[in-house]
Amino acid sequence: MCGIVGFIGNQQAYPILIKGLKRLEYRGYDSSGVSMIENQEFNQYKCKGKVADLEALVSGKDISGTIGIGHTRWATHGVPNDVNAHPHLSGDGNLSLIHNGIIENYATLKEALMEQGHVFKSDTDTEVLVHFIEDIMSKTGSDLFEAVRVALCEVVGAYAIVVMDRRHPNRLVCAKKSSPLVIGIGAEGDYFIASDATPFIEYTKNVVYLEDEEVALIDRQSGLKIVTIQNQQKDPYIHELELKLEAIEKGGYDSFMLKEIHEQPRSIHDSIRGRLNLNHGMLKMSGIDRHEEIWMNANRIIIVACGTSWHAGLVAEYLFEEFARIPTEVEYASEFRYRDPIIQQGDIVIAISQSGETADTLAAIELAKEKGAFIFGVCNVVGSTISRATHSGAYTHAGPEIGVASTKAFTAQVAVLYLIALSVADKRGTLSKERLHRLMAELSTIPDKVEEVLKTNDLVESIAAIYKDHRNALYLGRGYSFPVALEGALKLKEISYIHAEGYPAAEMKHGPIALIDEEMPVFVIATQGHSYEKVVSNIQEVKARKGKIIAIVTAGDKTVSELADHSIEIPKTDDSLVPIVSVIPLQLLSYHVAVMRGCNVDQPRNLAKSVTVE
Ligand code: AGP
Ligand code: GLU
Repeated sequence: MCGIVGFIGNQQAYPILIKGLKRLEYRGYDSSGVSMIENQEFNQYKCKGKVADLEALVSGKDISGTIGIGHTRWATHGVPNDVNAHPHLSGDGNLSLIHNGIIENYATLKEALMEQGHVFKSDTDTEVLVHFIEDIMSKTGSDLFEAVRVALCEVVGAYAIVVMDRRHPNRLVCAKKSSPLVIGIGAEGDYFIASDATPFIEYTKNVVYLEDEEVALIDRQSGLKIVTIQNQQKDPYIHELELKLEAIEKGGYDSFMLKEIHEQPRSIHDSIRGRLNLNHGMLKMSGIDRHEEIWMNANRIIIVACGTSWHAGLVAEYLFEEFARIPTEVEYASEFRYRDPIIQQGDIVIAISQSGETADTLAAIELAKEKGAFIFGVCNVVGSTISRATHSGAYTHAGPEIGVASTKAFTAQVAVLYLIALSVADKRGTLSKERLHRLMAELSTIPDKVEEVLKTNDLVESIAAIYKDHRNALYLGRGYSFPVALEGALKLKEISYIHAEGYPAAEMKHGPIALIDEEMPVFVIATQGHSYEKVVSNIQEVKARKGKIIAIVTAGDKTVSELADHSIEIPKTDDSLVPIVSVIPLQLLSYHVAVMRGCNVDQPRNLAKSVTVE
């Protein structure tokens, strides 16, 4: 949920920390703080608000030190305020710690520590951890590295932590479980620690991903050492990242979200590249091929996800049932994990997550694994916790998605799920080769069709100006377009704060049609295809009650265009591919409405990019 950054090396730490926090701010942002060590004293500053508020607090103060830690917080225990912001100090003032996650047994630990005289300044679970580490050091005489390891043997919950001891400014200790943490190995003894690689990508591409329940010591002289909390030595495995700095800059757009909307021809292309080769009629999904037997014998697919990823899962339900003829159900991960679900022989669980760090989705995976399911992951972040928790998977290769409202990740997820469904259908022989190749060929045209739809931007902006002050909105779709209606509604509500609902178009007459009047804009995906005539009838029902219709239609459509108050044309494509193309105008619409309403498009209120707490 939040962002952590650490540095130890031959440069001043503060500039690295503050720039890193700005790049991680999208992960969670109600307060922030930094701490450096100079002359065995902490230069520590923290406050409620944005990282810019922290910069203002720090200006003119002593920020020296070549070792430091930084944190952006999304509160779980203790309201957002200066005292609850991280870093947190131990009682003796010798240790400074930052934390992403939840210490679930913090209350028990806190009670025991208070009985021994510990006094706490904050309401956070995190402060309990740094006092606990201090307590172990004072009782056992162990150093910071050993004390952190021992403490984490007692801790229940999720953590990515970095800890410093001002008496030993030549060493940093970090550890993780369930929350993300990556170590960057720079030149000349510089070491970086962060929630993901964006804070240090211009310094190094050599990274080490800590596994769950591993603790790392970084020492200026002896370098990097990793042990498990059970004290088994682990050899660091160095990955070389492909991430590029410009991939995380705005690239001339006003916001990350707008940049990412316009990146979609590229990101969809990248998601299918190397997996779809029309010249050889080749469809290559190595994550599927390696477990062919399991997919051949699958009796059921259960998809677990949250939010936009759950909408991608709904599209996949139609894809797997139409193409691969495998019974498929889509579950909210947060519901699945607490329902004691029945998992049977032949069940495959597909977990979809852009960040690869969503706590509910991760928990659903662990539960399904315990019950014997084969788990397949669809993630956008290489090396993310979810991608390493599954038996197999496929990355979406959409590139970093910084905007909190997911856009390019959704279309990349649908594209990859499309390839998976085609690949499994081909193996199970449930699709004719002719139809398979026709669908593969159509999929390969989608990046260009998305490019085409992006040209409707000015028309969409003019429509946004008409409806930007409405207090409600309805989104309707049938079949493959029903999940798009849900996604369009989510986009509008999460960045413009207008209440919006998505519904199956036919469902309107079972209640929601009572909402229709001249104040209700109704966005309808009404492309020519399987249930076109039925959708036209639904549009007429809305018109009869003075509702305003904004329709997404197939290029050249006359019928709906005459009925609708506004229509936005998209290129004709197969029903099964309409979701990728029809969502684009809805993304643009929510973007323009939010901008016209003065909302913070990249960092909507109350939201964080990666929900790594329950
Ligand atoms: C979508 O715009 C939201 N940001 C949110 O619903 C998001 O899709 C959800 O939290 C799941 O995130 P994940 O894909 O990283 O698991
Ligand atoms: N649970 C800690 C707190 O509330 C950390 C939250 C976070 O991950 O930012 O301070």
